[in-house]
Amino acid sequence: MVVGDKKATISFSDGSEPVVLPILVGTAGPDVIDIRNLYRATGKFTYDPGFLSTASCQSNITYIDGDRGILLYRGYPIEQLAINCDFLEVCFLLQNGELPTATQKAEFEKLVKSYSIVHESMAQFMNGYPRNAHPMAVLTGLIGGMAAFYPDSLDVNSEEQHELSLLRLIAKMPTLIAMIHTYSRGRPFMFPRSDLSYTGNFLRMMFGTPLSEFQEKKILTRALDRIFILHADHEQNASTSTVRLCGSSGTSPYAAVASGIACLWGPAHGGANQACLEMLEKIHAEGGVKRVGEFMQKVKDKDSGIRLMGFGHRVYKNFDPRAKIMQETCRQVLAELGLENDPLFKLALALEKIALEDTYFVDRKLYPNVDFYSGITLKALGVPKEMFTCIFALARTIGWISQWKEMITDTEYKIGRPRQSFVGSIKRDVPSLKTR
Ligand code: ACO
Repeated sequence: MVVGDKKATISFSDGSEPVVLPILVGTAGPDVIDIRNLYRATGKFTYDPGFLSTASCQSNITYIDGDRGILLYRGYPIEQLAINCDFLEVCFLLQNGELPTATQKAEFEKLVKSYSIVHESMAQFMNGYPRNAHPMAVLTGLIGGMAAFYPDSLDVNSEEQHELSLLRLIAKMPTLIAMIHTYSRGRPFMFPRSDLSYTGNFLRMMFGTPLSEFQEKKILTRALDRIFILHADHEQNASTSTVRLCGSSGTSPYAAVASGIACLWGPAHGGANQACLEMLEKIHAEGGVKRVGEFMQKVKDKDSGIRLMGFGHRVYKNFDPRAKIMQETCRQVLAELGLENDPLFKLALALEKIALEDTYFVDRKLYPNVDFYSGITLKALGVPKEMFTCIFALARTIGWISQWKEMITDTEYKIGRPRQSFVGSIKRDVPSLKTR
């Protein structure tokens, strides 16, 4: 960001001196009022719960224009990346700032594959979890635990170790997630194979058994790879901000990513695709398309506490460009599997149609987000719904670690430490136990 020509002046009704603040200009998006010296100059904080108007960092990784439905990774539109690239190319792009050449792509793939096996003791570590534990609970623990198994990549001041932790996280995440899945089913772990693609390998580790060779269907592998691309980064969302805040203390990248996974689990964020599919299944069980009107009435009634899951977004207020690609991918997967008449897909289309015409949603600028169709697609691919958020975590790992690295190498980097407006009791004396 550079200091622009314009300035902002804050005046106060109590007669205190006005303050003039610099305005910083990025390459795109809103200008930013630089309030770093506000407290020193005025003794006042700003108040912005949920960061509705606050830029917490400067970044050159991902750009979103929520009004125009634009999402760019390092300048490249998501629509072009989803069609022309595979997930590992996108990982390389997010990490390095440029797309790989053919040679770089081949080398990167080889390198990632070489790190895909996990420490044997991690399998034993997994054996301590109940088999019915939520996969996100297990994943949070396993990734945090990586710091114990790979202590040679914890120095946040070493570029070499950044690279090592990044490779390990991208490479081992599919292996660990597939292990969580097979463990929950009581099936043996499948080892990664170097002759398969990143995503093909993941599908084989998820669904293959030692008894028969996994039959890969390229269209389905491509669909999952596209889901990974769509979820790879999304600038300063809740889990990424969590990774940055956690990592700002100088903790290990594994601990920072584990904190992001914990945040992602929530139904307002990464848990939305599971919640969305459960919502569709519930409406289907209660009568399907003919009950959609009744369900929508409940969604619009604030007292019901029911939201239309997979709808709405903090940033996209026109359309989510990922949702369009996701809907198309969903169609392709269902067609490949002969599930065009899938009742949940039909139900989703009916809900979407009503919502896009209903003033409640139109007035609030609520549109389908990427998760509205990703749940149906993942279900068709055979992924159980409790594993959906793990798939999201796998994809977002490259975003988290790229953003973490950007933060830790930023010359303006500081430990994250928000302030507060205190509304509790002021100083009072502790009464003795018998008088309380
Ligand atoms: N269904 C019904 N009403 C909604 C929905 C929804 N899905 N989303 C927002 N609204 C309403 C709110 O009730 C509020 O109405 P009001 O102005 O009358 O009070 C208004 O729209 C604004 O809602 P906020 O919660 O203030 O919007 P915010 O930007 O904070 O929340 C969020 C965004 C969390 C995504 C929200 O839209 C939501 O809960 N959606 C459902 C969950 C979901 O799909 N999450 C996935 C997000 S994408 C991702 O993580 C990959």
